[in-house]
Amino acid sequence: MARVRHWWSHGKTVVLIWLISAALFFFVFRMAVYSSSRSSSEPSILNSNRRSQLYDKMARDLDEHGAAFLQGGKTSQSLSLSDIFTLKDGSVTPILKAANPPVRANVLYLSPKFSELISQAVTGIFLPYFDKAIWFQNSSLYHFSMFHASHHVTPILATKAEIEAEVNAVKAVAESLCPLKIILDRVVLTSTGVLLGCWQVISGTDPMTIRAKLRSVLPHAPEKQLYDPALLHTSFARLLGQPKMSHEERQKYSNQLEFFHELVNRLNNQLHGFEAEVSELWYVEEFDVLALALNGRIMARRFRLGCLRT
Ligand SMILES: *[C@@H]1O[C@H](CO)[C@@H](O)[C@H](O)[C@H]1NC(C)=O
Repeated sequence: MARVRHWWSHGKTVVLIWLISAALFFFVFRMAVYSSSRSSSEPSILNSNRRSQLYDKMARDLDEHGAAFLQGGKTSQSLSLSDIFTLKDGSVTPILKAANPPVRANVLYLSPKFSELISQAVTGIFLPYFDKAIWFQNSSLYHFSMFHASHHVTPILATKAEIEAEVNAVKAVAESLCPLKIILDRVVLTSTGVLLGCWQVISGTDPMTIRAKLRSVLPHAPEKQLYDPALLHTSFARLLGQPKMSHEERQKYSNQLEFFHELVNRLNNQLHGFEAEVSELWYVEEFDVLALALNGRIMARRFRLGCLRT
């Protein structure tokens, strides 16, 4: 009897140890699978949260700093808007200035298949109110700025051969990146009058990873880049002056900021949740300041994202 009881209690211990081992194994196995999927190109929650926080901050900018663009605000690249545009024959014309040395930018490209729909929505809502006081981003050149090999704040000179070496290095990075599925989180209007689309990543290589890879192959690039590495944004338009409001609208909105928020809300209602795919990385030499934004002179090398294992 004592023997049976002993066997029984021994048996229980064995079963318990087995159960604990199995649970531990399962747990460790899940952790391993989780971390390997994290280290590949899956978007991470941390990066998404970081982007959300940045977008919250950008959305607050207009209220915190007011509509600085009505007093000749600065762009995110610290150029004054009145330096950039002029009214010529009744239409807004960019004043192109040669970039010396040319800027070397790496951008993700948004195909017109997606950008034209966005551009139509933006124009439909903003053109009636701003007429000549707005500049629309060319819908064949919608892009997400990733990483500069040289920018106008910190110019990094490069010979033709060095540029070709950069191009080849960027091409190799593009081959290792997976196409991105993205979703428009929100549209914001900055205090400098730039209407920005702020995106989240559904799948594909996260911008954090893309920028880290570009930095590692472009060791001479400016240490200080222009944007936060988590950011995935594209500019839709630049407001340059006062909106034309009807008498009723002037009565309805106690101040202009409220009206700007209303216009941005209308656009968000149309565009929030819009999904797009990004499958090209461009290495762009900009021969004019802000050439991609202002239809200036560019030389673009286009690379498809290959999603190859490296
Ligand atoms: C928009 O960009 C495309 C491609 O670079 C160009 O062919 C076209 O002329 C541009 N549109 C305007 C209005 O400059």
